[in-house]
Amino acid sequence: MKLLVTGGAGYVGSVCAARLVESGHEVVVLDDLSTGHADAVPDGVRLVEAGIDEAIGGVLAEGFDGVLHFAAKSLVGESMQDPAKYWHGNVVTSLRLLDAMREHGTPRLVFSSTAATYGEPEQVPIAETAPTRPTNTYGATKLAIDHAITSYAAAHGLAAVSLRYFNVAGAYGRFGERHGVETHLIPIVLQVALGKREQVQVYGDDWPTDDGTCVRDYIHVVDLADAHLRALEHAATGEHRIYNLGNGLGFSVRQVVDACREVTGHPIPADVAPRRAGDPAVLVASSERARTELGWKPERVDLAGIVRDAWEFTRSLQGA
Ligand code: UFG
Repeated sequence: MKLLVTGGAGYVGSVCAARLVESGHEVVVLDDLSTGHADAVPDGVRLVEAGIDEAIGGVLAEGFDGVLHFAAKSLVGESMQDPAKYWHGNVVTSLRLLDAMREHGTPRLVFSSTAATYGEPEQVPIAETAPTRPTNTYGATKLAIDHAITSYAAAHGLAAVSLRYFNVAGAYGRFGERHGVETHLIPIVLQVALGKREQVQVYGDDWPTDDGTCVRDYIHVVDLADAHLRALEHAATGEHRIYNLGNGLGFSVRQVVDACREVTGHPIPADVAPRRAGDPAVLVASSERARTELGWKPERVDLAGIVRDAWEFTRSLQGA
């Protein structure tokens, strides 16, 4: 298929673009490089360096079989301080994309949604039938886009799939996580191992979990990318399907820090800090629907293995 990957110079987008190319698809990346990196675009892939607002019509006029839409603002904390950046940057931009797809007859969409659409869970593991009550603006904007996609699919025959990611981690060779502002646990812990930070702060050790620290579902970015390929194949005209993607296993912050110690051989000092606002105690996905309907199964579920891939990528950046 000929596929447009928005945000294909970012973390998840670049890994997906690489896997799509390896599977024989023709890929074009549209990215304004506001948070992405030109050198994260896989070899042989054309990069259109522009925003969706100005460029999407011209690009889709070429004719595409589908769009994988990753381009987004994705910092939870920032979304609370600067909501306009998220409502415009995520929702308005995605509506422009949907309208352009409609205008140019682009038949398929795979959208990068998030577990943040659910908010504080009533039940764990979290299924797609769980109530959607986002506790931050980031999650609210992604949920609004999901609603828009549902109605465009029903009214205009779009074949759409939203994938709700839990905690994405790991790397794929030279494609990995490198944010200007880092807020995610594993990259922060690895920065300590690299000597770029003194210590990691554990946000609370009095949560109702086995060791008192928050539990999350860390999914390897390659497993996540492979779900996108399956989603493309299973997208059905006029339907909007939604799938949670996690590996179904929860790991606590302490377990993550321990795995990083084991992989890096660094003592990684950790201090307990106050709880971070908006953090639920436990977020673990039920990916049953993805397993049964997409035939998807996470293959890289070992936490040390996930950390090892992230560590190799982090060290390769240092050497660069
Ligand atoms: N944490 C620390 N210290 C840190 C950073 C994080 O203790 O320095 C803890 C957090 O409190 C949390 C866990 O590590 O308990 C994971 O935090 P991350 O920031 O890595 O990830 P989140 O679970 O907050 O966020 C992820 C995605 C978001 C998505 C959210 C869904 O990164 O995009 O899951 O709820 F919105």
